[in-house]
Amino acid sequence: MSIQNVMVIGAGQMGSGIAQVCAQAGLTVKLNDMKQEAYERGIGTITKNLSRNVEKGRMTEEEKTAVLGRITPSLDLKDAHDVDIVIEAAVENMAIKHSIFKTLDEVAPKHAILATNTSSLPITEIAAVTNRPEQVIGMHFMNPVPVMKLVEIIRGLATSDEVYKKVEEMTLQLSKTPVEVNDFPGFVANRILMPMINEAIFTLQEGVATKEAIDDIMKLGMNHPMGPLQLADFIGLDTCLYIMEVLHEGFGDSKYRPSPLLRQYVKAGWLGKKTGRGFYDYT
Ligand code: CAA
Repeated sequence: MSIQNVMVIGAGQMGSGIAQVCAQAGLTVKLNDMKQEAYERGIGTITKNLSRNVEKGRMTEEEKTAVLGRITPSLDLKDAHDVDIVIEAAVENMAIKHSIFKTLDEVAPKHAILATNTSSLPITEIAAVTNRPEQVIGMHFMNPVPVMKLVEIIRGLATSDEVYKKVEEMTLQLSKTPVEVNDFPGFVANRILMPMINEAIFTLQEGVATKEAIDDIMKLGMNHPMGPLQLADFIGLDTCLYIMEVLHEGFGDSKYRPSPLLRQYVKAGWLGKKTGRGFYDYT
């Protein structure tokens, strides 16, 4: 049976982006959040993105209406009772993910795949709280989801080949490129990206260069679309710190120790673009 009905958990930046690309691909989406206001914000972002597509002539007004018509709000995980896949994009907290996956295991149909968009938490550990670990998988989308082509697909220890194949097919249907990886700390994307960002922060901390100079070097010298400090602000410094801690703990190797400057910024509440201040000022 192919995937047609999707539930996305979390209407934040990632969840709303995932809901948008699923609905654009013709899938029916329940966009779940604990709060109605979060759903309203998420659907507002989706509407804005679709309107830009209409303005740019990439989509008609009718298509936009049809895409929005495929997304319905959900405030209760029990709404997963008739879906083919759930993609969880809630907060990066293992206890919360355990609770969500335990509930989903009880309420979702037997055939349903339970996927998580976690950026670094172990898929195998999330799967272990369910009675269907072979149907649990990582689908790691990149931010901004409507723009970025990659979906890192992470196989937990128990993930079946059949489930992997279905998720790969669904990813292609979303016009994204699936790339298969195994379940190790940080997977591949963040195992490579975050130490680079962390090193850029050490470089700043040590006064080797200004933030602008560090970013210019990586943009102009390596053709990166954003410098590492600008990218850290864009991702969120709390998320960067969290992922570095997962790498540090997961490998037990000091090369992954988070920069003290990163810790200090997070303690100050300077979390990047979302709080108006990070390495740069967005106010
Ligand atoms: N949502 C939807 N569309 C967006 C968008 C958003 N948040 N931000 C930008 N876009 C679209 C714009 O509308 C524009 O589309 P058109 O040209 O078709 O109109 C296009 O993207 C390019 O945008 P801009 O011209 O405004 O700016 P840009 O050329 O600098 O591109 C960018 C913006 C795509 C974000 C680019 O800077 C970029 O690729 N940055 C790096 C992003 C990246 O590395 N992402 C991965 C982060 S790591 C991660 O996500 C994993 C994790 O676990 C932490």
